[in-house]
Amino acid sequence: MERVTSKEECRQALSQARREHKTIALVPTMGALHEGHLSLVRAACKRADYTVVSIFVNPTQFGEGEDFGAYPRDIVHDLELLAAEGVDLLFTPTTDVMYGRDSQVTVDPGPLAMRWEGEVRPGHFNGVATVVAKLMNIVRPDVAFFGEKDFQQLRIVEQMSRDLDLCVNIVPCPIIRERDGVAMSSRNAYLSPEERFQALALCEALEVAAAALAWGERSADAIVALMAAEVAKRPLAELDYAALVDSVTLEPVQTVDMPVRAILAARVGTTRLIDNAALVPPVK
Ligand code: PAJ
Repeated sequence: MERVTSKEECRQALSQARREHKTIALVPTMGALHEGHLSLVRAACKRADYTVVSIFVNPTQFGEGEDFGAYPRDIVHDLELLAAEGVDLLFTPTTDVMYGRDSQVTVDPGPLAMRWEGEVRPGHFNGVATVVAKLMNIVRPDVAFFGEKDFQQLRIVEQMSRDLDLCVNIVPCPIIRERDGVAMSSRNAYLSPEERFQALALCEALEVAAAALAWGERSADAIVALMAAEVAKRPLAELDYAALVDSVTLEPVQTVDMPVRAILAARVGTTRLIDNAALVPPVK
């Protein structure tokens, strides 16, 4: 695996692959890699002839008072993991390399970014969309891999790729969970043992939603109330939002008469966690 830190080196390393008409895949990450990230990397290596992974803790997607400084960084371990997966190129730019001194133009991700995470974290998705657009312009992949774990981010990236004619095929990858059901996240490292236990609230709320649907409940309000009640059972967990949304527009639905997405965010102690699941009504 080759590691490059500048845009020029990255383009240079890719030119050979391009000359050989190889299919190029990109997996953007912020590092502190876990099995969730590695599932994307494996899917990319399987699908493409040449796989590029980027590790960049992007300052512009962190709000004031968020965890940019504390965000876990472990490049030595990340390198080992990626080399073992057969990644071809690792791109690890610094903030200066990525943005230079006088960066001014950003991507406005539009209505998909207004709700849910965008409401709680103003500017977050502008930062995400801008850095992903830049990475796509530097690497110019044929295909890029994103986790359903960050469902709103995935939808925004899909929409951006289409609307800005980036010509990148976006592949959604399923959520990888710990044994007990908690979605893997670099931020789980912040949780104390008791908080980690109470973090089960999120995936249990999603299970409750699926169970309610299975026994015939179709009202979104009723299902969301059950999700909120499930989270409320854990005193250290505080719900930010829970909703059933259309999986394309991310607008709330009233009735579950077709597949929708259940989404939620909660603070467990001081750590903010998100999770989601597809909810598919059983055929009658
Ligand atoms: P990061 O949080 O490092 O996640 C990188 C990719 O891994 C994202 O596509 C995310 O959805 C996916 N991922 C994380 N946890 C996962 C899990 N448990 N199962 C499946 N996929 C998972 O998301 C970002 O970085 C950044 O916003 C980024 C897109 C790199 C832009 O800076």
